[in-house]
Amino acid sequence: MEYFLKNFLQGYAEKKGLRMHMPGHKGRCDNPELNAAYQWDITEIAGADSLFEAEGILRQGEKQTAEIYQTPACCWSAGGSTLCIQAMLTQMKAENRVVIAARTVHRAFLNSCVLLDLHVKWIFPRTGGVIAGKYDPADFEKALQETKDPACVYVTSPDYAGNLQDIRALAEICRKYGARLLVDNAHGAHLAFLRENLHPIALGADYCCDSAHKTLSALTGGAFLHMRDPERVQDMKRHMQLFGSTSPNYLILESLEACTGWLWEHGEEIRKCEENIEKLRKRLEGKYQLQGKDPMHLTIAANGILLADALRKFSIECEYADKTCLVLLLSPMMTEQEFAELEMILLACEAKPAEEIPALPPPMKQEYGIREAALSDYEVIALAQAEGRICAPVQVSCPPAVPIAVSGERFTKEWLQLMAFYDLRQAAVMKNR
Ligand SMILES: Cc1ncc(COP(=O)(O)O)c(C=O)c1O
Repeated sequence: MEYFLKNFLQGYAEKKGLRMHMPGHKGRCDNPELNAAYQWDITEIAGADSLFEAEGILRQGEKQTAEIYQTPACCWSAGGSTLCIQAMLTQMKAENRVVIAARTVHRAFLNSCVLLDLHVKWIFPRTGGVIAGKYDPADFEKALQETKDPACVYVTSPDYAGNLQDIRALAEICRKYGARLLVDNAHGAHLAFLRENLHPIALGADYCCDSAHKTLSALTGGAFLHMRDPERVQDMKRHMQLFGSTSPNYLILESLEACTGWLWEHGEEIRKCEENIEKLRKRLEGKYQLQGKDPMHLTIAANGILLADALRKFSIECEYADKTCLVLLLSPMMTEQEFAELEMILLACEAKPAEEIPALPPPMKQEYGIREAALSDYEVIALAQAEGRICAPVQVSCPPAVPIAVSGERFTKEWLQLMAFYDLRQAAVMKNR
């Protein structure tokens, strides 16, 4: 592993030259704690390469990321998995593929559908709810059988609660029908480094995005877009350029190189971390019901809101909590001491039972395209008044930013009840429809 970007940025900072280029802060700021970082915040000067046309130090860095992940190719993103999802879906649009998607999707997917005017055939989970659940690959196969046109399948795995879908089975099905498999692996950047390599590309996916900032060490906004076909790199860069800033942040890019370096030098520590987590889970299982198979998601089936409050008293802040669960996001960056502390405090806390997630009602009818409804003139009304109206922009809180109703669907009483269960009080509906 070579640190091309770090060496370049360090060398440039040490030169202390006159920066007659952007950014306007000229490599310094008044806050002493940020000053060091500002020195490394540059733009596309000579030698620094250019992310969307990378052929210098950034491209070399991307190749090292692909190598450590054992994927055929990788592009860096300073716009998170969001930008990677936009790029993957743009490619599907360019190939005129029908999109078949597991309903557990992040808002980034729906926003891409608005931007690209995509229509989606939804597959619903067999167990769990919309926010997190388990899917049956046979449902995707049936959808592919019914689809005459070229298609792609899009799934989120791991989901917010750490459920892993059967990517291997889905990949086999997709191959059989000539479909592409796209995986939102935003929560699974670590999966390639577990005892068993569970990274989506290793399991047969065509494309996947990994947020290197969620379970690994990159700065917020840093992500990897992996692909099976290295010939697609230029296409992905072209698509990312459509939506991303023309000034990708070099600190984020540097953190992607640093994260890659950590994986080269310490990647095996993830397996040690996996063992620590297994031990932690075993000890907690006597007290709590745990969900999900991904090691980095410690998901407790309990009234998460109350448990989150209890943990806050010990200065522990969770990733996500609702009436059905609490999600604690672990990471290989955690120290043994932090694991021990977490265990001690969780064992000391008392949890109230989870409320049961209502069964999923029959799907709502998609009356308008996602784009048309999301961009329509709309009004925000109480849920109680929304039955029979059409969902306009989605109402979704972050985290987990997984919408329950989708733009263009006609609200039914049962789905409004489901939204109320997740404490949504209002809906944005198309005006006069
Ligand atoms: C499942 C999922 N997909 C995609 C995203 C978007 O990722 P990013 O924040 O890296 O753009 C998120 C963000 O939370 C997510 O949870």
